Amino acid sequence: MTKHYAVAIDGPSGAGKSTLAKLCAEALSFLYVDTGAIYRTVGVAVRRAGADPKDRAAVSRLLPELKIAMQYDDSGLQRMYLNGGDVTDEIRCPEISLYASAVSALPEVRAFLLGMQRALARENNVVMDGRDIGTVVLPSADVKIFLTASPEERAQRRYEELQQRGTPARYEDVLRDLRQRDENDRTRAVAPLVPAPDAVEIDTTGNTLEQSFAFLYNTIKERLAQ
Ligand code: DC
Repeated sequence: MTKHYAVAIDGPSGAGKSTLAKLCAEALSFLYVDTGAIYRTVGVAVRRAGADPKDRAAVSRLLPELKIAMQYDDSGLQRMYLNGGDVTDEIRCPEISLYASAVSALPEVRAFLLGMQRALARENNVVMDGRDIGTVVLPSADVKIFLTASPEERAQRRYEELQQRGTPARYEDVLRDLRQRDENDRTRAVAPLVPAPDAVEIDTTGNTLEQSFAFLYNTIKERLAQ
């Protein structure tokens, strides 16, 4: 069987994971897998069903019916499909962030998505980003990175991103939601957001994208060569 390489990039939201992971994947010619998008797709399903995303039994009942698929378009964007419908734009709205955060705390949801994430890494060289990739999904990843930045800087980045997407929000609300999600992600009982013991921690506060990319890419190249 051909050896496939895996780079796990974990960290809180807004640390620059998706942008940097995508750039690294392109530079390495690896597949970029945004696992947050997969949790967000479950969030959309729960909202559509009118279920409470914290209600473990209600969410669990929905899971067997869900058909989640992903495809890459010509620009390399990971498009997400829920029961055949394209939800790529819908998953990015702020309300869905909170749904995704709530459903991602449920063990049934994490178990449901584990196989899909592992299968992608079995069949491809991947740069996979998320919260528990280095600790739970791919514990034997070749390289593990834990990417962070201060909450204020992360909120500022998210705020600018929302403006660019044409769905602006108030900075204070973005910061509040981000702190709420950090708290949910760090304190949940299953797969909490913690660095793997063997992860390289990189703080991107105050860095330009170019600086963070150069540092991250060099770190990955060095580790892959070992
Ligand atoms: O990275 P993101 O903001 O798109 O992730 C959405 C939510 O999904 C976030 O609250 C954390 C959760 N998530 C997770 O628990 N595990 C992952 N591997 C990826 C995301």
